[in-house]
Amino acid sequence: MSQRLDHIAFIMDGNGRWAKKRLLSRSMGHKAGVKRIKEIILSCFEDYGIHTCSLYCFSTENWNRPKDEIETLFQLLKTFFEEEIDFFKEKGVQIRVLGFLEDERIPSDVLSTIKKAVQETKDCTKNVFNVLFNYGARQEILEATRKLAKKAVEGKVDPERLTLSDFSGMLFTKESSDVDLLIRTSGEERLSNCLLYQCAYAEFVFTPCYWPDFDKKELEKCIREFESRNRRFGAIKG
Ligand code: IPE
Ligand code: IPE
Ligand code: MG
Repeated sequence: MSQRLDHIAFIMDGNGRWAKKRLLSRSMGHKAGVKRIKEIILSCFEDYGIHTCSLYCFSTENWNRPKDEIETLFQLLKTFFEEEIDFFKEKGVQIRVLGFLEDERIPSDVLSTIKKAVQETKDCTKNVFNVLFNYGARQEILEATRKLAKKAVEGKVDPERLTLSDFSGMLFTKESSDVDLLIRTSGEERLSNCLLYQCAYAEFVFTPCYWPDFDKKELEKCIREFESRNRRFGAIKG
């Protein structure tokens, strides 16, 4: 691979429309979507040597959806983790959950399962799987600012000397590198509050493919597209 591709992020989108097209319920769409996760994440790690995969699973704005849809999605994610923890562990994949977990709206069984997945894989060192759950980038940035402001009030940091790395160290992604490639499925071309800070220099690839149809072939197309880009980072290259 000619370009650095350490961190790939996915906005998995289009589960609902995939289902609608087949006259199925939105829940069936989420079910088909969750089934796709393992293959794609693993292909990133094993076929492309990518170190970190981030997957946008539930946004802070997704609470605006009907209660039963949220409940179904949560239960599907819970089952996914229950079933796959051992697999990820064996593969050396560290699961991290990025988002606001101290939220009473998250059912306790779902919370304990995802916490268990994090705990059980904490010593894995080969790859990182960031699960963005109850995640919102603006809220993340606000929270980081709040933490630094508190430190400043306590006299622990000098506001004049704050660096970008001090700031990024306060984000949920503090241990991950910046996003190199962000892929959004379903044809929407927006970020929807996903990793705003971390995508400052990311390449974006938008595909019309609905997430439940997004397979290794589609992934390959997106990565090829990424490969064809000329990343300049403000300099003059190529
Ligand atoms: C999945 O797709 C995204 C999640 C919130 C998990 P959607 O449910 O947004 O599907 P569309 O956009 O309605 O088709
Ligand atoms: C973004 O998808 C959130 C996740 C994929 C988790 P949405 O389907 O919620 O985004 P909008 O509402 O179309 O912007
Ligand atoms: Mg959507």
